[in-house]
Amino acid sequence: MQIKVITTPVAQVTCNTLLIHLFEDNVIQGTVASVIDKVLGGHISTLISEQPDCGKFGEINIIHTWGALSAQSIMILGMGPRAELTTDKICALSAIGMRAAQKRHSKSVATMIYDLTTEEFDLQTTAQAVVEGAILGAYQFNYYKTTKPVSEMIEDFILIENKTKKSTMIKGIQRGEIIGESVNLARDLVNHPPIYMTPTQMAVQAQKIAKKNKLEILILEQEDMEKEGMQALLAVAQGSSQSPKMIVLKYIGDPNNHTFTAFVGKGVTFDSGGISIKPSLNMGEMKGDMAGGAAVLGTMLGIGQLKPKVNILGIIPCTENMPSGHAYKPGDVISSKSGKTIEIITTDAEGRLILADAITYAKQLGATQIIDLATLTGACVVALGDIASGLVSNNKKLCCQVVAASEQTGEKMWELPNFAEYKEQIKSDIADLKNSGGRKAGAITAGLFIGEFVNDTPWVHIDIAGTSDSDKESGYHVKGGTGVGVRTLIQLAQNMGTK
Ligand code: BES
Ligand code: MN
Ligand code: ZN
Repeated sequence: MQIKVITTPVAQVTCNTLLIHLFEDNVIQGTVASVIDKVLGGHISTLISEQPDCGKFGEINIIHTWGALSAQSIMILGMGPRAELTTDKICALSAIGMRAAQKRHSKSVATMIYDLTTEEFDLQTTAQAVVEGAILGAYQFNYYKTTKPVSEMIEDFILIENKTKKSTMIKGIQRGEIIGESVNLARDLVNHPPIYMTPTQMAVQAQKIAKKNKLEILILEQEDMEKEGMQALLAVAQGSSQSPKMIVLKYIGDPNNHTFTAFVGKGVTFDSGGISIKPSLNMGEMKGDMAGGAAVLGTMLGIGQLKPKVNILGIIPCTENMPSGHAYKPGDVISSKSGKTIEIITTDAEGRLILADAITYAKQLGATQIIDLATLTGACVVALGDIASGLVSNNKKLCCQVVAASEQTGEKMWELPNFAEYKEQIKSDIADLKNSGGRKAGAITAGLFIGEFVNDTPWVHIDIAGTSDSDKESGYHVKGGTGVGVRTLIQLAQNMGTK
């Protein structure tokens, strides 16, 4: 999809669909809608009086122009109550409009966004949200379809510019494009089948991003992991015939500063559960157990282009979790890079093991604060559903920064309690820790297990087990991978860079 900015008068814009915004109060005076209403001889006013609900959130009405304007049809998109508009809603509505246009086989969609800019929503933010939403909403995953789907990609997205603030608008468009594409990369990685998206392929994808953005990259192979003493990661990997990879990407945006924020993402490219094998029903969904890693890759793609004034490490431990004659077993005691020993209660609690070594490694590489993202627990899905990601943290300030960034992007996050009493559940009789604290408070004990390897470094853990994929189309989400985390981590990096 190409994004174009033009200054043509709205009635003369050639496109399949001209998207018009309408608030629930149905007031069109002084808006683009009223200009078009006049050209169309009152069709929009008629629609409003005959269908007073057409301004409700997400409502879509089409008016064919029959040559009265250069646009083939007008799409009236209901924006809901004027006072309840948020950036997140602008983004979602843009996605809804794009998908509706796509289903009607539009190749070109044009819109004006001035009606949406108020004191609260400046032109740059609005343009960004509209473009981001368009890219996210139009996303399709068609790599494996040999016949073309009925609804095809929109080729041109045209933003009509009628004021002299073109540069502000273009800045927003560029940011929206970069962020939308970064999220879609993470979605692609999650949606690819596990036969393709192996640890090796994750490393190939990381190489591509590094090359494109001129980032430093380091890929640890199994021998390197052995030298580094990453016994926990190696234990998980030993059941698989795919070789594990530890991916490290480095972005330096503030060379005079020696602090590094590490984004650490769980990269289990398929989680069968291992010897503690999962039930077969829906096991295929565990191809998405690398969504944390995918979000880190998407974030590094975005950050490398947006260039905030911060230093970021992207670290992704990648492996499969498989049963085999070589696999680690329940009852095993394994070591870890930190030196701490772990009793294996279940081989299905593998994420926390690979993250433990990745976090120890992040600290060795100079991380001064750490944020990890992982599809870590079914318990988090039980607690927060697919609406919000669950946080566990050892640092109020960093946790507030993450939540603040999430509120800016609309990716909902909620902190879970980290009371020390919960740690009793992960104490082992025969080792330092055990890898499962049982059913009670499973999302918290999993987070606190990771926390045992962080020690005093400020840290936030984000459990995205419920939010990393979507079972339905809604707002800017389509079915499959959501790319959750990318927008919040990019926002966080930018917030840190402007302080
Ligand atoms: N990858 C899973 C968690 C998961 C569950 C992700 C549902 C996405 C959707 C993780 O490795 C896992 O198996 N966790 C276990 C931990 C338990 C055995 C302590 C779980 O949540 O059941
Ligand atoms: Mn598991
Ligand atoms: Zn897992």
